[in-house]
Amino acid sequence: MNQQKRIAVVPGSFDPITKGHMDIIRRAQGLFDRVIVLVVINAQKQPQFSLQERVELIRSSVDNLSGVEVDSYEGLLVDYVRDVGACAIVKGLRAVSDFEYEFQMALMNKQLYDKVETVFLTTSTENQYLSSSVVKQIASFGGNIKPFVPEQVHERIASRLNPVQHKPVK
Ligand code: PNS
Repeated sequence: MNQQKRIAVVPGSFDPITKGHMDIIRRAQGLFDRVIVLVVINAQKQPQFSLQERVELIRSSVDNLSGVEVDSYEGLLVDYVRDVGACAIVKGLRAVSDFEYEFQMALMNKQLYDKVETVFLTTSTENQYLSSSVVKQIASFGGNIKPFVPEQVHERIASRLNPVQHKPVK
């Protein structure tokens, strides 16, 4: 019997990719035959890394994960999901604060395309506080971001997030 492959899309801004994202991608890999990590243009955000840079950083990070690929997209997420024949959108949930927004998106995506399910994976405890914004903030103060981003891309990310000169507050 020719069984259909189960494809999942893991969408996000990934500005830049963190170990929290990697945790979700790895766990999605365990649940689906094929996982597409999709860098989506979020009109609400001003990214620090270009789309191409974000795609390259993710590609280097998922290089050794079989069945995982990377793509980018501008448009409605469900249109992409439908085009590639995916059955699920996978999102990581860190805290209750993520839930309201993610719940709204999941309901709306279902309304727009009823063949897609949104699967929420709860982030591992050690990544609960982690976000791309926090990584950028730490780097901007000259802090060490090594524990928070994939090993393969740490230097590339760190060299792009040079600390800004902060003046002492008098
Ligand atoms: O990492 P982010 O910025 O929280 O990811 C949000 C993203 C990019 C997944 C979301 O903004 C998105 O799906 N944008 C595409 C446009 C779309 O389909 N919007 C949903 C309509 S309800």
